[in-house]
Amino acid sequence: MATWFPYYAGFSTNFVSSIINSAGLPSNSTIGDPWNGSGTTTSTAARLGNHSWGGDLNPVMVIAAKAGLFNKSDLSCIEPLTADIVSNALMQKNVLNHDDGIRNWFKGTGAHALRKLERSIYKILVEPNQSSFLSNEQIESLSSIAAFFYVGLFRTIKRFVLPFTASNPTWIKIAKSTEEHINLSHSKVYQHFEEEVSLMIEALKEDNSPHINIGNSELRIRSSCEMHTAEESSDLILSSPPYCTRIDYAVATLPELAIIGFRIADFNLLRKKLIGSSTVPKHALEHNPNWGETCNEFLRALYQHPSKASKTYYYKSHLQYFHSIFLSLEKIERALKPAGACVLVVQDSYYKDIHNDLTSITVEMASHHGLRLKRRDDFVSEKNMAKVHPEIRKYRNDPIATESVLCFTK
Ligand SMILES: C[S@@+](CC[C@H](N)C(=O)[O-])C[C@H]1O[C@@H](n2cnc3c(N)ncnc32)[C@H](O)[C@@H]1O
Repeated sequence: MATWFPYYAGFSTNFVSSIINSAGLPSNSTIGDPWNGSGTTTSTAARLGNHSWGGDLNPVMVIAAKAGLFNKSDLSCIEPLTADIVSNALMQKNVLNHDDGIRNWFKGTGAHALRKLERSIYKILVEPNQSSFLSNEQIESLSSIAAFFYVGLFRTIKRFVLPFTASNPTWIKIAKSTEEHINLSHSKVYQHFEEEVSLMIEALKEDNSPHINIGNSELRIRSSCEMHTAEESSDLILSSPPYCTRIDYAVATLPELAIIGFRIADFNLLRKKLIGSSTVPKHALEHNPNWGETCNEFLRALYQHPSKASKTYYYKSHLQYFHSIFLSLEKIERALKPAGACVLVVQDSYYKDIHNDLTSITVEMASHHGLRLKRRDDFVSEKNMAKVHPEIRKYRNDPIATESVLCFTK
């Protein structure tokens, strides 16, 4: 499948299809992913003829996953639609509000051009008679063609904000002063948008994935902690929970969120709800002994660590993480049909010099909710946040991470 949306934490299509093919599922199976990200599980499962559902709290990821359902047979409409979108954008009035998120990096005509392109996609492919931004309902029912163009625009803004990315691949800074703001002409923005669309077309031409029936895949903006069991009833759940390495999945998509109209208050709200983000809740959570022995030991060691903020910020943020994962595993167990299976890909990490054995923690939490471990395979992970935090070298010389594929049954 064409991967248009570069995503730090993405699964490979081959991995997903090999798990699905070896799972011995009944025909017409339902396969779900509560942390769907760029949607590799849902698109691969649907292309293999299954019904699939995917949830993610980040609307940008739901749009990216929708774009993954795009069929090559729709390719012929892309070039004329691109021309329509650009000519309609050229005719739009300036509609940039003073608190528009695009202003975080851009000034002048460039900022207006990005917003005009977004308005034009919305008017042509979503709703001609409204002037609001995409609502959650509109995102959930977005066509894969509309999602294709939103992703084209995401790639355009990402390309321009490249100078604002940090060594941590999931962190994007905002411009601090007027001098730092990017000044672009209208034509430069439109030209880059057309180039990104062309690159997406080229990638799709080389793609030989089977046709997808878009009705076979339901994508929702939903928290894994709040799954509605009947809608998510599944033969197989295949997922990768958010890492416990303070990857901030909201900051990683800050420019894309700005494109779909997120202002700072919306952004802060989303960030608080995402598992693993670097914010901590105002109300302290309680440690739950049911999280298991490995988790209890880890939290005890973290709390006693002499480094700054261990007892405060870091303890609280880890409580938040484990609380949400525990709740999500309970929902996963409930969503599985009686003979259902669940495959989770989990990466371990370190807090300073303390091993956060997320694999054992997940196994113990899952077992508490009635999920039995059938098989475990460990791999050395190439994508690993320890490599990008220079501070880690103070504690360990060889920052490697292990990724485990855990297979559970009910
Ligand atoms: C490790 S990534 C999943 C990657 C995915 N397997 C792929 O191939 O792209 C975790 C995802 O969980 C999402 N997420 C974080 N907290 C969530 C929550 N409470 N409910 C649902 N999704 C959440 C993040 O937005 C992120 O996209």
